[in-house]
Parts: sequence; structure tokens; C-alpha cells
Amino acid sequence: MSVHKEIKKVTTNTLHEMKKRGEKIAMLTAYDYTMAKIIDSSGVDVILVGDSASNVMAGHETTLPITLDQMIYHAGSVVRGCSRALVIIDLPFGSYQANSKEALMSAIRIMKESGAHGVKLEGGAEVKESIQRILTAGIPVMGHLGLTPQSIYKFGTYTVRAKEEEEAERLLEDAKLLEQYGCFALVLEKIPAALATKVAESISIPVIGIGAGGGVDGQVLVTHDMLGMTHEFHPRFLRRYLNLYESMGTAFQQYIADVKSKDFPNEKEQY
Ligand code: KIV
Repeated sequence: MSVHKEIKKVTTNTLHEMKKRGEKIAMLTAYDYTMAKIIDSSGVDVILVGDSASNVMAGHETTLPITLDQMIYHAGSVVRGCSRALVIIDLPFGSYQANSKEALMSAIRIMKESGAHGVKLEGGAEVKESIQRILTAGIPVMGHLGLTPQSIYKFGTYTVRAKEEEEAERLLEDAKLLEQYGCFALVLEKIPAALATKVAESISIPVIGIGAGGGVDGQVLVTHDMLGMTHEFHPRFLRRYLNLYESMGTAFQQYIADVKSKDFPNEKEQY
């Protein structure tokens, strides 16, 4: 008898239920099929195809240069590697800010061409029309407040946001608005832990933090950072689970040495 074990897919409802019962949400980024397959089969709840692909995959200094076509390429590769996780795609810089019609068209392209389950975009009240129009097409939207890297040239630095009362109050207000507009979840990046906790307690949608402390409903890290592949990046919030920069380097050096010494391939490694 063959036992058919059905995989229970994570949905936006699953995340709401998790928040209600106090179960933390684990989210990681992915940009390609192979990594997505490993992460998905590890049991992560949400995979984010972040525009951090602009940094870690393409080597750009900021997230601004990545295009909608490039995000769709990464998104499709990740979706093909996932059978359980909810897959959310960042709307890249320039694909949603000009007007709500363009935002909707960008989100529709992502959903149609990649098979993803929803989109994420940065900002609060200023992107209200874009969020609402995307939602009218039945596309789930995740918000993103705090350090929003697409605005890096406005901020000037990647330091902690909303340390001053005025910015903290605006952030809390924006979080409430995003919930009212209909966002299904919210990412808070690099803000004081006490403020992030207050936001998570003030709204009913799940709040997922990166550098926002442990009082929120879940955590997200950039996979290449938590695996220690990006060894020159050391923010306080980053926990490294491996040092792949070093172990991959050692493997590459060993391979080079084996080729040069004619140790590879040996007799068993040829036809
Ligand atoms: O692009 C990204 O990877 C992100 C996460 C840091 C939340 O937006």
C-alpha cells in the first residue's frame, strides 16, 4: 500500500493563525531553485524573494538597480523549488511608486509569470493607493517599514531607524494604516526592539522582524548572511549559523590543488 502524504501548504491564513496562538514565523530569503528547495524542505514558513538579490546575487551596492524582469526570473526559479512555504516577492524600486496602475501591473506580472503567492513593498501612507489597487486584484500584500533600503539615498545610512519619538510615532501610525489597507503581514527592519514589540501588540496582522528584537511574531534573515557567505557584513542582529565563506573557500582550494596535482580525476572518476 502506498501512503500518500499530502504537504500542508503555508497560506496567509496559516500565518494569522500562528500569530493568534503565539507560534513564531520563520522566514528566509531565496533567489534560486536549488537554495529554495533546501530551505523549503527544511520547514521554513515563508520564503522571500527579496530585492536583496540586487546585493547578494548581482553585487550591486544597493537594492535600487534590480529590475522587475530580474525579480521575476529569480521568483520563478524559487517557486519551482518550493512545495510548502508561502513565497512572497519584493516589488523592486520603480515598479510601484509612480502610480497605482503601474503598481498593479507590476504585481500582476510577478504573479502570472512566476507563480508566487504575494508581493511585498516598502512604505506606509505614501503607498496607500498602490497597496489598495494591488489588493483589488486579489494579490496578497506584505508591508515593510523601518529601514526601507529602497530609500537609502533619503536616509543616507543603514543605521537603526525610528529612535526618535516623532519617527517612532509615524511608524506605529503607518503600521496601523497598513493593517487597515488590508496587508496580510508586515516586515519591520532595524528599529528598536521596544517599538517593534509595541507595533506587534497593536495590530492583528503578523509582524516579522529583521533587527527588530524578539517581541515580534516572526523573524527573517537574508540566507546568504546567516550562512556566512557574505563575510564582510556584521550587523548586531545577524546570527551566523555557518561560515560558508571559509568552508567553500577551503573546498575550492582543495579542488584546485587536486586538479593541479593530477589527483582529480582518479581511475574511479572516469569512464
Ligand atoms: O530584500 C530583502 O531581503 C528584504 C528582507 C531583508 C526583509 O526585504
